[in-house]
Amino acid sequence: MTNKRAYIESYGCQMNFSDSEIVASILADQGYTLVEKAEDADLVLLNTCSVREKAEQTVLNRIDGLNHLKGRNPGLRVGVLGCMAERMREDLLEKKKLVDLVVGPDAYRTLPLLLDEVEGGQKAVNVLLSREETYAEIEPVRLGSNGVTAFVTIMRGCDNMCAFCVVPFTRGRERSRDPESIVAECRQLVAQGYREVTLLGQNVDSYRWNLDADHNPRDAARPTADFADLLEMVARACPTLRIRYSTSHPKDMTDKVLRVMAGHHNICKYIHLPVQSGSSSVLQRMNRGYDRAWYLDRIAAIRRHIPDCAISTDIISGFCGETEAEHRETLSLMEEVRYDMAYMFKYSERPRTLAARKFPDDVADEVKGRRLQEVIDLQMKHAAERNGQHVGQVQEVLIEGVSKRSDRHMYGRNSQNAVVIVDRQYAGTELMPGDLVRTRITSGTSGSLQGEVVERVREGVEEW
Ligand code: SAH
Ligand code: SF4
Ligand code: F3S
Repeated sequence: MTNKRAYIESYGCQMNFSDSEIVASILADQGYTLVEKAEDADLVLLNTCSVREKAEQTVLNRIDGLNHLKGRNPGLRVGVLGCMAERMREDLLEKKKLVDLVVGPDAYRTLPLLLDEVEGGQKAVNVLLSREETYAEIEPVRLGSNGVTAFVTIMRGCDNMCAFCVVPFTRGRERSRDPESIVAECRQLVAQGYREVTLLGQNVDSYRWNLDADHNPRDAARPTADFADLLEMVARACPTLRIRYSTSHPKDMTDKVLRVMAGHHNICKYIHLPVQSGSSSVLQRMNRGYDRAWYLDRIAAIRRHIPDCAISTDIISGFCGETEAEHRETLSLMEEVRYDMAYMFKYSERPRTLAARKFPDDVADEVKGRRLQEVIDLQMKHAAERNGQHVGQVQEVLIEGVSKRSDRHMYGRNSQNAVVIVDRQYAGTELMPGDLVRTRITSGTSGSLQGEVVERVREGVEEW
């Protein structure tokens, strides 16, 4: 046991933030106290992302920035966790002398042993990937939590091999987590007062839990569960909890999932469906497994089953060989779909990926930049237009906290995941995080909505 203080900083996607909560739990079991600032810690852990070169550069700069702390506290130990640890391995120790510890995403259970080595003045590395690890029974320590919303990881890894993507190399093979442990974690969140979960996986639509895979006899009471089944299990088990999920893959998204969403009020009407490009030829080079027509058919299916569903996406500008005409196909697809929100990126070549091995990164940086700007400008227009459509409606908003701009306002989200700002005072009392309020939307911009609270939906716990 130790009385040391640890600080964890997370970069990258929600799965990394969720993993940091597993790491925090393992450290707490070892007697570490978690602190809020690197300055106060004996152990600084950076949970890192490799998805674009810029993400890695940010972390490398951050490590340099920690040098002065080592001067003040010679006992300070620095560890790199997550995707960069997996990708760069021992090279990280060579490149950055400050780093003592390198641990990949599937090796966190070995942290106690590795930390012992590091304590003894050695460097320690474990980047073994696993086909089974899901950290299923480890109870996460919620970090930086608002006490209202939480992430629950339902699967790890990815088997898809999109040509641009480093994730299959950093996170290993896809594996699903036992649905019972997922439901148990959600139930516990409810008991702790949480009001919303986001179920996480790189491709939730390939979630599959099969008892046969565990070499157990098939049991009619517990048949194979797919993602739609899991979603329904959670929605039924936790009727007072709002449920979101991310990320869907267009090639795998089923109508069954859409029917489950439409059938449960507590499953939020929001789907993140990354398209990457609107051009079938680019999609083929990307190895995404669908073309433009297939994607648009999935969008039509969403609109058919859930007319009020919000849809967001990811777009990459300037992928290998992207012509001006192919870029314009992305713009025209955006015009057809009219996304509520989008994450937009310049293509960044990643070592070992299919694209790095097969295609030259041949779109000039200024062309990538200009195309990205065109995509961003169009998206801003669509977001403003989509947000404008909420105006006049009365919607359920889950309050998450005090608005960053003004402490006289609170912010929350509607089912469609749009941020809604309301007055902090309602009917002579202050709204609190976790309150669910029916709100009339009064105005909207591309970034958020403003609203007036009409009534509180519930004081205590009541079904949606
Ligand atoms: N599993 C998710 C996305 C994971 S990475 C999916 O399949 O959609 C998140 C986003 O980062 C991707 O959707 C993609 O738009 C972007 N991205 C991934 N690799 C990239 C690269 N090499 N360059 C630029 N953007 C990239
Ligand atoms: Fe990467 Fe594709 Fe897997 Fe998403 S589905 S993590 S983009 S390989
Ligand atoms: Fe980044 Fe790893 Fe997530 S590369 S996007 S942190 S899976």
